[in-house]
Amino acid sequence: MTSDAGAGERRLTIRDLLEMKQRGEKIVSLTAYDFLFGRLVDRGGVDIVLVGDSLGQVVAGYDTTLPVTLEEMIWHARAVRRGVRRALLVVDMPFLTFQISIEETLRNCGRVMKETGAEAVKLEGGDEEACRHVRALVRAGIPVMGHVGLTPQSVHALGGYRVQGRQQDSAARLREDAARLEEAGAFAMVLELVPAALAGEISRALHVPTIGIGAGPETDGQVLVLYDALGLNEAFQPKFLQRFAAIAEEARKGISAYSAAVRSGTYPDARHSFE
Ligand code: KIV
Repeated sequence: MTSDAGAGERRLTIRDLLEMKQRGEKIVSLTAYDFLFGRLVDRGGVDIVLVGDSLGQVVAGYDTTLPVTLEEMIWHARAVRRGVRRALLVVDMPFLTFQISIEETLRNCGRVMKETGAEAVKLEGGDEEACRHVRALVRAGIPVMGHVGLTPQSVHALGGYRVQGRQQDSAARLREDAARLEEAGAFAMVLELVPAALAGEISRALHVPTIGIGAGPETDGQVLVLYDALGLNEAFQPKFLQRFAAIAEEARKGISAYSAAVRSGTYPDARHSFE
């Protein structure tokens, strides 16, 4: 991997993101899981491309992100890496690859950095134990993005995909987790499914950028799962989601046009055939 981002472009760094926050410039992030979408998202000018473990749901069709393995994340991240030149590439660490011991966390995150060429990893959780792991990674030179609020790997412990921080005590815990993550050295953090006012308050209190999903307009940036944003995943309709394209509809039209052409014998014709 080189640090070249291509003609006239430079790959973004964690410093650039910090400076964007200082300038009040919004940070744009989307997920990607393969080469072609990685390239589209990158050329579309997105600042952070996240290889999310949401791939367990939107690519593999699992109900949760829990079954996703380290090998699967590495395979997808390598594909995305080949398409991403300018954006900062961040890879989600899957369930139980960063909790068991500091040694395992370092080994697993080290593998992701070495084998995918990503610039950073993302870890869910912000309690004291999670931050012990974040500190060890930062000390080893691995940039870490945190993730607090609704942490999907804890969906069973949280009792479902529900907004976090609505009560005084859970809001206080969220503020503490965010501050602890910043103190541990996280360069940014995702705030997922958090009331807008609380997300705004946390964002203003931190020096590092917050990237919201279902956390209102006052975070320093926004992230969405690509297939949700593009309207590929039509069954998923949470309140926070806006669809910016209708790819499933386009795909359906293309598939029925192709089927009709094959069945009627209009495709292929002489233009698509070899002498
Ligand atoms: O896995 C994922 O895609 C994520 C984002 C939704 C933040 O964690």
